[in-house]
Order: sequence, then C-alpha cells, then structure tokens
Amino acid sequence: MENNKRPETMARIQTPELARAFIEEQVNALRAQIGGKKVLLALSGGVDSSVVAALLIRAVGKQLVCVHVNHGLMRKGESEQVIEVFRHQMDANLIYVDAVDRFLDKLAGVAEPEQKRKIIGAEFIRVFEEEARKLDQIDFLAQGTIYPDIIESGPVKAHHNVGGLPEDLHFQLVEPLKFLFKDEVRVVGMELGLPAGMVYRQPFPGPGLGVRCLGAITRDRLHALREADAIVREEFDKNGLTQKVWQFFAVVPDFRSTGVKDGKRAYDWPVILRAVNTVDAMTATVPQLPWDVLETITRRILSEVDGVCRVLYDLSPKPTATIEWE
Ligand code: XMP
Repeated sequence: MENNKRPETMARIQTPELARAFIEEQVNALRAQIGGKKVLLALSGGVDSSVVAALLIRAVGKQLVCVHVNHGLMRKGESEQVIEVFRHQMDANLIYVDAVDRFLDKLAGVAEPEQKRKIIGAEFIRVFEEEARKLDQIDFLAQGTIYPDIIESGPVKAHHNVGGLPEDLHFQLVEPLKFLFKDEVRVVGMELGLPAGMVYRQPFPGPGLGVRCLGAITRDRLHALREADAIVREEFDKNGLTQKVWQFFAVVPDFRSTGVKDGKRAYDWPVILRAVNTVDAMTATVPQLPWDVLETITRRILSEVDGVCRVLYDLSPKPTATIEWE
C-alpha cells in the first residue's frame, strides 16, 4: 500500500531554505526512482504541473517528456507562455499539441455543462494517449497531485491526474508534490526559477474557458471571452488587485442583448465580470472593486472586443451562486 499520509515531522515549506532542502531531497529521490528511464507529464501550465515539470527537469533533464495539449480553451497567452518557459528558458523536451479544432469540433452544439466537461475530459485523455503511443518506451507518468487532492478537503475540482488512460499503458506514477499544500508548491516553484506569474496564478478550471463560454461554445464568443478575460487580468494587474482578489474572470453568456453602436442598433453579447474572495472555495464573497477600475474594464471591453455591447458585474456571493457560472 502506498503511503498517502503527510509525515507528521515534515516542516511546512515557507522559506527559500526549506524549499531548497525539499528540492534537493526530491531530486535525489527522483533520480533514484527513475534511473535512466523516461517520464511523461501532461503539462497544462497550471501551478502544479509546472512545478512538477521544473522539478523533473532539474532531476532528469531530457528524460522528461512534457506534453502540452492546447485544447483551445486556454486563456490568452497561456500556451505561448508554456512554450517560452519550458522549451526556451528551461530547455525541456516539450511536445506541443495543437488540438484546438479537435476540441471545438467535438464541443460544437453541446450546451449541457456536464456534457461539455465530459467531452473535454475524454478528448484530453484521447489526445494524451495518442501522444504517449507515439513515444518509445516510457515507464513513468508524472502528475501534479498535491496534498489537498489526496485528502479531498477542498471543493476545487482540480484534475491533476490523467486517470482514464487505457490499461495497457501501465505507467508507474511519479508524484513528487503529493504531500505539499498549495502555498508550499508555490514557494518551491519560485525556488525552481519559474516566473511569478505562473507560480502565483489564480485557480483556473481544468476545462478552462469552456465553462465560461456558456452553453454551446462558438468560436466567435470564445474569442470575445478570451479577449475580455485578458483585459480583466491586465487591469487587475495594473491596479494592484491581482494579489488582493482570489479569483476573477469574465463570462460570456449564450444570449444577446440590444445595444447601440455607431448610431445603429446592435444585437450583441454581454460580458459578465466575476471576482471573488474565499479561503477554501466552499463559500465566497464579492469584493468591492474600485469603481474606476470597473469603469476602465468596461470601457476597454466595449471598445476592444468585437460583438460585445454590455458589461455586468456579478454581485452574488456563494452561496447562493457558485463561483463559476456553469
Ligand atoms: P464553484 O463554481 O463550484 O467553483 O463555486 C469552486 C472552485 O472550483 C473551480 N472549478 C473547477 N475546477 N474543474 C476544475 O478544475 C472544474 O470543472 C471546475 N469547476 C469549478 C472554480 O474555478 C473555483 O475555483
């Protein structure tokens, strides 16, 4: 039986010194476990998979094969950042899979939220499996499992594992972060030289922008959502709100509303802004954002994003509303 309990004597990793000690210990353990063999990792660019990648690059270099699947539901610039950081800065063995059309074709016309999630999850496994089969002899599968995933204390439905891979791909699991809490993962990530923007990024659902482009996803609404979301993030950064608000994003619903543009009536989409503060995502409150920031975001979205005529700020706490819209 694998031990899944954090050792009671393990100190909370809160300082660079403790992070360095953890890294050294893990690098030795990973080298001993992996030897000269190869390890596969699904690298989304999220905090946990990025830190696992950086740790394994330090331990076994190019024996690690990272697969980044761009499912078309990433935020603006995210896939590019994965390529820049891992391929160019860390010289990792990175396979980039452009699966955008595949995912969006599969999702076309599907409006039911759980069905959308299922399609995204299943397609991800299929794409990852195809990539795994193209590679010669891989013995290990690395995963960014962290301690809350094991103790299942949080409602943050992070999908860290690539569970669901076919039986014949029997990899041995490598889970070097499995006893760490999120804050510790971040300290380790900084010490491994990952950019702060990657290490301190806010939670982002596994199915990505797919759950924020409400109803049946269309390419034009997805594009509007990605652009609006980028504006929200940029303005939060500029105004020092990124560290103060736990999670914030844009949502584009699947209905239109009337507007006026260039003196003519327009029938365009609304963009809903969502920002929440929470400790454990079980309950959440809505911060009082500075009015001028809301105004700037609104003005920028209305002038820079095609097809949008209205911006709303969702004031609903959880409960009764959930953080995501679907
Ligand atoms: P809700 O909407 O349930 O969200 O209040 C609580 C937290 O979980 C995140 N979330 C998800 N994360 N896959 C994920 O990996 C999902 O399907 C998913 N749905 C919600 C959400 O962003 C929030 O942080």
